Amino acid sequence: MSLHIESLRVDLAGNVVLRNVNIVLPEGETIAVVGRNGAGKTTLLRSIMGLIKLTSGHLLLDGRDIGTEPSHMRVGAGFGYAPEDRVIFPTLSVAQNMALPCEVQRVPKREIAQRIEAVLAAMPQLKPMLPRSGAALSGGQGKMVALARALMVGTRFVLLDEPFQGLAPVVARQYGDSLRALRQSHPHLCVVITESNASLLEDVQSTTLYIERGNVTVDHLNGQHSAPQKDMSLTT
Ligand SMILES: Nc1ncnc2c1ncn2[C@@H]1O[C@H](COP(=O)(O)OP(=O)(O)O)[C@@H](O)[C@H]1O
Ligand SMILES: [Mg+2]
Repeated sequence: MSLHIESLRVDLAGNVVLRNVNIVLPEGETIAVVGRNGAGKTTLLRSIMGLIKLTSGHLLLDGRDIGTEPSHMRVGAGFGYAPEDRVIFPTLSVAQNMALPCEVQRVPKREIAQRIEAVLAAMPQLKPMLPRSGAALSGGQGKMVALARALMVGTRFVLLDEPFQGLAPVVARQYGDSLRALRQSHPHLCVVITESNASLLEDVQSTTLYIERGNVTVDHLNGQHSAPQKDMSLTT
């Protein structure tokens, strides 16, 4: 049970933004996608979510090509997405923000309550925030809520776009703790995390992919060298 991304190409405004991307997102794994600004990280996640039309290529989920299906079907297929800019609705409470994507999917109320409980098991620090207004959240709290909301529908895949960017160290540590707790509470979940600053992911156990000008590789430097080990990095 994995998502196979095959020969993916995405052109935007006449430019090739993703070229020949071939990756597998297996269940139960955390995959980091590291690359500098403009490399194509957000475009990759938006393509997986069906928010961008693929120029060519396939997204094979259990053998079915979902690459041509509309984005609302991703949510039903168990994909959750926390965009870079969070998008927390200020007129709704935190609990309502979390429930919203489930309500759109007509998930029964009881099931929504159960999912909130499951998310709180991994993110207990959210519990006191549930009644709070979305407008009253700090940037870091907003990122936590965005993760929680993605988890409400992301029963198989959660895609997190630069979640650590701009977090204060204490909040980043909490966020990392939540990701570790998730591995325990949602063992089959595939978590995809993009980051431009790889050092922010030091505490996250993951397989790392590198993206550079729309090319995705497992190894750094276009596959000419393997990713430097921590103790070797001083010599490069
Ligand atoms: N809607 C768009 N139209 C045209 N070009 C775009 C659009 N969105 C992104 N791009 C371009 O695609 C490239 C990758 O962008 P993006 O996926 O946002 O990178 P990242 O998230 O890694 O910073 C950049 O060169 C960016 O300018
Ligand atoms: Mg981006």
